[in-house]
Amino acid sequence: MQILDGQATSQAIKDALKLRVAQLILEGRRAPHLVAILVGNNGASETYVGAKVKACSEIGYKSTLIRLDEETSEHKLLSVIGELNDDLSVDGILVQLPLPKHISDEKVINAISASKDVDGFHPISIGRMVQGLSSFTPATPYGIMLLLEHYKIDTKGMHAVVLGRSNIVGRPISILLSSNTNPGNCTVTVCHSHTKNIKEFCLEADIIVAALGRPGFVTADMVKEGAIIIDVGITRVADAGKKSGFSIKGDVDFTNVSPKCAYITPVPKGVGPMTIAALMKNTLKAYLENN
Ligand SMILES: NC(=O)c1ccc[n+]([C@@H]2O[C@H](COP(=O)([O-])OP(=O)(O)OC[C@H]3O[C@@H](n4cnc5c(N)ncnc54)[C@H](OP(=O)(O)O)[C@@H]3O)[C@@H](O)[C@H]2O)c1
Repeated sequence: MQILDGQATSQAIKDALKLRVAQLILEGRRAPHLVAILVGNNGASETYVGAKVKACSEIGYKSTLIRLDEETSEHKLLSVIGELNDDLSVDGILVQLPLPKHISDEKVINAISASKDVDGFHPISIGRMVQGLSSFTPATPYGIMLLLEHYKIDTKGMHAVVLGRSNIVGRPISILLSSNTNPGNCTVTVCHSHTKNIKEFCLEADIIVAALGRPGFVTADMVKEGAIIIDVGITRVADAGKKSGFSIKGDVDFTNVSPKCAYITPVPKGVGPMTIAALMKNTLKAYLENN
C-alpha cells in the first residue's frame, strides 16, 4: 500500500508556481492576484479561505480577502463581484461556499466573470470541461487528477466508482476520469443516495472516489484487494481529546481499508492540500490568459 501524499505533492506544485512568479517579476510584470470573498462566520470556511490566502503568500501571488457580514444582501454581494469583474488588477475571484441561505449560490456563481472563475464552478467552465476544451477545472477534482498524474498512475481502462454527484466534486471528477486523457480513460459509475447496492459497485471498482460527507462510509468489506482509494470527505466530528473540540474525518475507514489498497489518500493531508494547489494553478492560468 502506498500513501498518496497530497501535502508533499501540493508543495511540489506550489514550489514550481513560486519559481514561475519569480520569473514574471524579473520580467517586470505584476504578480497574479486572487480575491476571495467570505460571507459570514462559518468556522470551516474561515479555515479553507485562510489556507488559500496562505498559499498565495507562499507562492508570491497577491491576495485580497473581502469579508462580508452574514446579513449581507444578495444584491450587495453581486455588486461587489461586478466591481471585481471590471477590475483589471484582479485575475481570479472566488466566493467561499456555503453562502447564507438568503443568497443564491447559482446567481453568485453565474455572476463571476468566466475569465476569472478560478473555482471552475461557472456553467461556461463546466461546459468547456465536459467538451474537453481548455477550462478552469473545479479545484478538488483537478487536484485529484494532479495527484494521480504526480504518482504516474495509469488509470486507462480502470473501473472508477464515484460516490457522490455534487457539482463541485462527484459530477466533475466522474467526467474527468471518463475523459480521453491520462489520467482518465476510466469506465465510470456514479453512485448517490438513491443507488441500490453501493457495496456491490464498490467491490467491482479499481478506483473509488468517496465524496459523500459521511465519515467512515467506505469500509474494508466494500473494497477489493489492490484498489485505489481517493477520500475527499472532510467532516468535523466532536472530539473532546482535541483542543479545537473536533477531529477531521474522511469518508473512508482508513485503518481497515488501507491494508487492502494499492494506493490511498489520507485525511487530512490528501485531497485537501491538492485542492489548494489546483486553485493556485487556475489562478496562474487566469493571469496568463487575461494579461
Ligand atoms: N478535500 C477537499 O478539498 C474537499 C472539497 C470539497 C468537498 N469536500 C468534502 O467532500 C465531501 C462531499 O462534498 P460535496 O460538496 O460533494 O457534498 P454534497 O454536495 O453534500 O454531496 C454529497 C453527495 O453524496 C451523496 N450521498 C450522501 N450520503 C449518501 C449515502 N448515504 N449514500 C449514497 N450517496 C450519498 C449525495 O447524494 P444525493 O445527490 O442523492 O443527495 C450527494 O450526491 C464533504 O465531506 C466535503 O466536506 C472536500
